[in-house]
Formats: sequence, C-alpha cells, structure tokens
Amino acid sequence: MRIDILTLFPKMFEGFVNESIIKRAIEKKAVEIHIINFREFSKLNNSQVDDTPYGGGSGMVLMVEPIVEAIESVKQENSKVILLTPQGSPYKQEKAKELKEEKHLILVCGHYEGFDERIRSFVDEEVSIGDYILTGGEIPAMAICDSVIRLIDGVIKKESYEEESFTNNLLDYPTYTKPREFRGLQVPDVLLSGDHEKIKEWRKKEQIKKTEEKRKDLLS
Ligand code: ADE
Repeated sequence: MRIDILTLFPKMFEGFVNESIIKRAIEKKAVEIHIINFREFSKLNNSQVDDTPYGGGSGMVLMVEPIVEAIESVKQENSKVILLTPQGSPYKQEKAKELKEEKHLILVCGHYEGFDERIRSFVDEEVSIGDYILTGGEIPAMAICDSVIRLIDGVIKKESYEEESFTNNLLDYPTYTKPREFRGLQVPDVLLSGDHEKIKEWRKKEQIKKTEEKRKDLLS
C-alpha cells in the first residue's frame, strides 16, 4: 500500500514514521509513506497557502488551488482521497478494515481555521476521528495510518487482532502477566489452569461482561 499525507506540518510525521511498528512496516515494504507539504504548491510569495475568508471573519482559510494541485500531483486511478475534518463520518475499526484493502490512500489534513469549501469537490470521503476539535488533520491522519497499517498482512501477528476490541462488536478480554499476585490483586485461577477450552470460554464471557459494563452501545 502507498499512503500520501498532504499537510502544512510535515515535521509532525517524523517521529511517527521512524518508530516502532510503522517504521518496521516501512522497512518491510508493507507500506510506503510520502509526506507532502502544501506549500510546495503555492504560487505566492513566502509559499503562502492560506488567505482571509470572503465575507469576513477571523482566521485564515486554506486556499483551494495549492491543496487541489497537491492532491492531483499524487493521484492515480486507484487512489482514495480522504479529507480529515470534524465534519466527516465517524472513524471506526470497520473503516480501518475497509481501507486496508486500498492500494493508495491520499490523506488531506485540514486546518483548524478552515479550508475553502471547494476542496470538498476533490475528495472521495471525509472522515472524523471523534466529536472534538483538533488543531489540524495531522493527528487524525496518523490515527488512520496506524490503524490501517497494523492490519496489513505481515505487519503484526494475525492472532494479535483476531480477538481484539471491536472485532465482533465486543471489547477485548482482560490479560495478565507475571507476577501472579500484586498488592493483593490476583491473576484469575482459570488462566493458570492450563485448560484451553475453559480459558476460551472464560475469555468470551469476560468480553461480553466488559462490553455490557463499558460499551453497551456496541451490543445493540
Ligand atoms: N481536524 C480537526 N479535528 C478533527 C477530528 N476530530 N477528526 C478529523 N479531523 C479533524
């Protein structure tokens, strides 16, 4: 998979692509990530890509021309162009699974002061990572990349996500490691029993219990 991230703040992605699982996925060539600065497409002095809003109002607005030219510089026939904005469809694990099948994602990072409405005519989808306002689409772009890349074959072990939270609309079961007891808190006996059938049954029950307690909405 190839991912192009279009942003005003390319440096924000330096740590993201150079650490942990994402770094390994890039090294293994499971994914190729390109970070593109909108400013490269500015035709104005000082690489300006924003301007004051028509009709008045506070703040600066991302201009349509450099953003659309940035998109067109990388867009191919099989590209999916996604705009990150709080007005987008709520992002869910199901969507991560869907995007994992794409050959090429173009993630366009919006800016908190707004962007020219006409940019919307040049994207396939708009996605929000939650009902809160961030300063830009960069953190949402990282969240989407991370959640998609970890699902690509060979990036992490399949067992790691077969039973994780949101699969089958259930939260994950509780896990423990050594020591068996910490300040009076015990590891459940069943996990030490060696009885794999019983452990499987217990885990399923705990998943349902946890989901009922914490996220009843997932069960409906
Ligand atoms: N840009 C600012 N806030 C956002 C959000 N919650 N989701 C996606 N993009 C955003």
